Amino acid sequence: MPIVRTVAELRATVAGWRRDGLNVALVPTMGALHAGHLALVAEGLRRADRVIATIFVNPKQFGPAEDLDRYPRQEAADAQALDGQGCSLLFAPGVAEMYPAGFATNVSVSGVTDDLDGAARPGHFDGVATVVSKLLNQAQADVAIFGEKDYQQLLTIRRLARDLDIPTEIVGHPTIRESDGLALSSRNAYLSADERARAVELPRAMAAAAAEIVGGGDVESTLAGTVQRLLAAGFGAVDYVELRDANTLEIIEKLDRPARLLAAARMGATRLIDNIAVNLS
Ligand code: PAJ
Repeated sequence: MPIVRTVAELRATVAGWRRDGLNVALVPTMGALHAGHLALVAEGLRRADRVIATIFVNPKQFGPAEDLDRYPRQEAADAQALDGQGCSLLFAPGVAEMYPAGFATNVSVSGVTDDLDGAARPGHFDGVATVVSKLLNQAQADVAIFGEKDYQQLLTIRRLARDLDIPTEIVGHPTIRESDGLALSSRNAYLSADERARAVELPRAMAAAAAEIVGGGDVESTLAGTVQRLLAAGFGAVDYVELRDANTLEIIEKLDRPARLLAAARMGATRLIDNIAVNLS
């Protein structure tokens, strides 16, 4: 699998595929790849003839106190995993290629980014929206695949693609989980063995809350009970546990439309997020 580091090489490769009548999928990542990322590549291969994976640890989406410097970087292992999955090309630009001197544009999506992770991580979604706008324009793929694991991010990207008339189809892919239910995440590598054992309470408490709400339980008291359950399990702080409209992320007080339960909580120094569908069957 070829690795390219410039937009010019990326564009030349895609142009060649286009001349051959092939269609193209894009899978943006920050590397430290796991089975969740590889599932997006597999989905890309189901939907297109060629798949481009990108690896770029985007400085603009990390806050000053966040883990940019210690974010795991393992490009050789990632490239091998992508190759094994049948990925066609890796685009792995450096910071100067993505943000050359004089870079001055910010893409900011309002509405879906207003709270939840938007409140907990100021500037984060501007950084995501800016880099994803660039990647979509650079690759000009037919389809781009994003994980539901980062649900607010997925809705943000759908919004920006619509608003900026980017013709790439944005596809969401279900969250891939460990056998005990913990969502795969590059940040799980930060967890100690003890923290990892406790972390499973996040998906468990969320599944229990979803079942309670579907069963007619009061939303507010269910959410409050879930926060308590997470604190009791050893989470140091719970940023939010919220039931939201699955399409707009508006607060909903009762289950009268497709909904999403979203949570963020800290286990030791690691911030974990998760979300699940909550639907009346
Ligand atoms: P990263 O965290 O590396 O994730 C890359 C893609 O993989 C995202 O679409 C994310 O939602 C998806 N993903 C992560 N864990 C997953 C899991 N367990 N199951 C399914 N999909 C999963 O998200 C980012 O990078 C960045 O913000 C990015 C979009 C690349 C912009 O910089």
